[in-house]
Parts: sequence; C-alpha cells; structure tokens
Amino acid sequence: MATPVTLIPGDGIGPSIADATVRILAAAGADVEWDRQVAGMAGVARWNDPIPDATLDSIKRTRVALKGPLETPVGDGFRSINVALRKTFDLYANVRPAYTIVPGRFDNVDIVLVRENTEGLYIGVEHYVKIGDDPKAAAESVAIITRHGSERIVRYAFEYAIANNRKKVTLVHKANILKFSQGLFLDVGRMIAREYEGRVQFEERIIDAMAMHLVMRPEQFDVVVTTNLFGDILSDEISGLVGGLGLAPGANFGTNAAIFEAVHGTAPDIAGKNIANPGALVLAACMMLDHIGDRGRATSIRNAFEGTIRDGLVLTRDLGGTSTTDQFTDAVIARLG
Ligand code: NAI
Repeated sequence: MATPVTLIPGDGIGPSIADATVRILAAAGADVEWDRQVAGMAGVARWNDPIPDATLDSIKRTRVALKGPLETPVGDGFRSINVALRKTFDLYANVRPAYTIVPGRFDNVDIVLVRENTEGLYIGVEHYVKIGDDPKAAAESVAIITRHGSERIVRYAFEYAIANNRKKVTLVHKANILKFSQGLFLDVGRMIAREYEGRVQFEERIIDAMAMHLVMRPEQFDVVVTTNLFGDILSDEISGLVGGLGLAPGANFGTNAAIFEAVHGTAPDIAGKNIANPGALVLAACMMLDHIGDRGRATSIRNAFEGTIRDGLVLTRDLGGTSTTDQFTDAVIARLG
C-alpha cells in the first residue's frame, strides 16, 4: 500500500524543485501517495495563515512531510512557521548529512550533523534591560539546556550511528566557559556514550577548535552532535565543505512526525526561471524514503543523482553548468534506467 506523505511545495523556487522531486520519485517507482498542502506565502494566499490548520492536520495524519522552502510573511499577527511545526510535532533532532560528490577542496567528506532543535539559546527568551534613562542599555538572552533534551539528542546521535553503520560520534560543546548549561550537555553526553562503549567511538571537541578542525581535516569526522546554536552554524560550515546549499538536505525528527526539507531558502532571485538546482530537495526525499523503509529506491535515486553530477554534462548554474531544472531532472531520470 502506498505510504501517505504530506507535500508542501513551498514558495519561490519551491514549486519547481518540488515538481522535479515528485517526477524523480515517480520514475524510480516510489510507492508514495502525496497529500498536497500549502504553507508560507501560499498558505497566506489561500487561508490567510502561513501554517494553516489543514496542513498541520495532514502532517498529524501522515506523520511524514516533504517541505519546500517557505517565505515567512513580514509583520506581526502571523504565527511563526518553524515554531508552530517544532512545537506541534516536538521536532527535537535536526539531521543534516553532507558528503563529497565531486572532489573539490576536499575529497572524502561524509559527515552527519545532529543538532538539538528545541533548546539552548534559541528558545526565544530575551529582554532588554533598562539602566538609567536608556531602555535598551543591555539585552539578555536565556539559554536553557535540560537533562531530558540532552539525553534524547545524544542518544539519537548514537542510535543513528548504529542504524547507519557509522563508527564515531563527536560531541561539540563549550563547557570550559559555559560550565552549567554546556557542562550539563557534556556530562549527559559522556554518560550516554558509556552505554555505547565498544560499539561506537566517542570523542569531545570544543566548538572553536571544532570550527578549525572542520576546515583543516573534515575527513576525520563522522556523526557530530551538538546544541542548537552551534549546530546552526556548523551545519552551514559543513555544507560549504561539499559544494554549498544546492546539495544540502535536512530532516527534522520528532516524537510525533518527521519533516524533510532542503536547507536553502526560496531563492527569490532565481524563482520562476527554471534554473534552480532541485538537488537538496531530491536528497531530502531520499532521506524520507529511508525513513519510510524504502532504502532501495533511496539508493538508486542517490546513485542516479550523483552520477549526473559527476558526469558534469547536465548541470544547473549553481554547479557550474547551463542546464535548466527540467533538463537536469530529465538527466537524473534517464540514469534511473
Ligand atoms: P536562499 O537560500 O533562498 O538563497 C541564497 C542564495 O543561494 C541565492 O543566491 C539563491 O539564488 C541561491 N540558491 C538557494 N537555493 C538554490 C537552489 N536550489 N539552486 C540554485 N541556487 C540556489 O536564502 P535567502 O536569500 O537568505 O532567503 C530567501 C527567502 O527564503 C527568505 O524569505 C527566507 O526567510 C527564506 N528561507 C526559508 C527557509 C526554509 O523554509 N527552510 C530557509 C532559509 C531561508
């Protein structure tokens, strides 16, 4: 029976790269039944809500979504898309794989970043502090790290390593300075790591040193687990090691659903021109196929996609070619055989 999956094509280049992805999955024979929903500006146009209830209800039903990039409407009165999704589905694990397809500055990068998605400095607890007559003399942002949140994200990283035949987990922190919040994350990480001793190697890195090691010798890293802010920054750094945003997929796993997406935004500068690279969303769809248990088709699509890029004959502009989104999509489909 076909697996129901919520499809949110998104804004800007979203509908075009979503069409490309749907075509590739269909050509590969993926048994998916798309439930098309809107969000972002398309949600505002249809329901006056960037994250309409109908879309949330669909994800509650299917528990799996593939989402194109969304434009957040400016101005108060609209709910934040990411906050609504994160809260409704408790999407605590943000997983971003990055690997070398065409050797460039580095030949052999294969890193999966696991970022805690619900805590840390991004909980949105901030205020100004008035001193004397100046209402904005200072500002304070609160970072919350909990034992529960740390346990589940570090455990997620280890379980991911085991399920995907990975050898090592690197925990990234700043416990030398932030002794309480980062200290708790590190303590919990060490405790969880002991449970996996002999099965998965464990190492610790301080965030500043990690940023340097990543650009000096990224090949040494495998699965990397860290808190929200550090994960946000490192994931962009890591995608830059393997060719940038056009090839960077991401997944958000929670207790109630999993949402797969491209890391990039709506690319308004190239929207409607049929020149966007659909790669990031195609790779996100492969992660989605892995998740619903169709690893075979995920692998054939990845092979066809990587082959097309290595060939170098049909490439979109961001990869140095002159082909359109449609031509690139056709080339991937032709390779599926
Ligand atoms: P962006 O990622 O949309 O674009 C940055 C640059 O990368 C642009 O030059 C764009 O043309 C290029 N680019 C991005 N994706 C590409 C692709 N698939 N193929 C070829 N070139 C590509 O970031 P920007 O400009 O900062 O944000 C634009 C809009 O996207 C904003 O409204 C922002 O809020 C939204 N956004 C949404 C995200 C999401 O829904 N996950 C994530 C990031 C931004």
